[in-house]
Amino acid sequence: MPQSVRTAVFPVAGRGTRFLPATKASPKEMLPIVDKPLIQYAVEEAIAAGANKLVFVTGSSKRAIEDHFDTDPELESALVAADKLDQLALIRNIVPKGVTCIYIRQGEPLGLGHAVLCARPAVGDEPFFVHLADDLIDGNPGCLLQLRHQHESHGSSVVAVETIPMGDSSNYGIVALDEADENRISLIVEKPQPNDAPSNLAVVGRYLLSHEIFDKLETTQRGAGGEIQLTDAIADMLDESPVYAHAFTGDRYDCGSKLGYLQATVAYGLKHSDTATSFAKYLHDRDD
Ligand code: G1P
Repeated sequence: MPQSVRTAVFPVAGRGTRFLPATKASPKEMLPIVDKPLIQYAVEEAIAAGANKLVFVTGSSKRAIEDHFDTDPELESALVAADKLDQLALIRNIVPKGVTCIYIRQGEPLGLGHAVLCARPAVGDEPFFVHLADDLIDGNPGCLLQLRHQHESHGSSVVAVETIPMGDSSNYGIVALDEADENRISLIVEKPQPNDAPSNLAVVGRYLLSHEIFDKLETTQRGAGGEIQLTDAIADMLDESPVYAHAFTGDRYDCGSKLGYLQATVAYGLKHSDTATSFAKYLHDRDD
């Protein structure tokens, strides 16, 4: 039986320059989709996948994330006094009892691989999830739970992948699969140009990794963009410790881009009980 996965790592130190000026003083992970910040969707997905230790690797201007997952007795009292019990329920138990939040500062912006390495002391010698909140995935079950199910069947690391237009390869980690062992990754490259890409199968922001990745990250040199890349550490691990690709089911929205963010807002607005009907009517009437 593979070790259970209890820890989820959320690298949230990036400054979100694609969303300036909105992200000048507040974290990009706090941008709301309808009424919930991206990081709350991320945390809910991780908890649904069984995580009870949430490790946030943060940087400057990220205090709002800590505040969001903390209790707010003043606000709670005000809502009780105003008899706003529905709203009270929305802000209580965002992090359920039994789930611990740990915050670690990434002192330097050295990339995703470095951010994951910063989480090492909090993860220990166990498999763990990595969740990039920019990639919002509407899946049932959630994408991390899908990865856990894969992990339970073979005990190895798993990354979520999606087929992308070849022209977009330079935005992603791109994998090639082993023909003899379906879904086992034989090659992974960070942000190749289309001519150099081994396929059009892209890694999206969900990983379930063996702790062995940490030793690889300790020695990973700066790669694409001058940053320490998680992709390069995974590439280094492939021969010793298998990594599988999982083509997740669900819809992914790249909420690090303005277009993806707007698409997510429309999709979730059309599903949210407060807005579904009126928003659908608005969009319909507008098209006329
Ligand atoms: C990161 C990873 C990349 C992955 C992508 C998914 O890139 O480095 O391999 O495909 O997330 O969103 P970033 O988008 O942070 O540049």
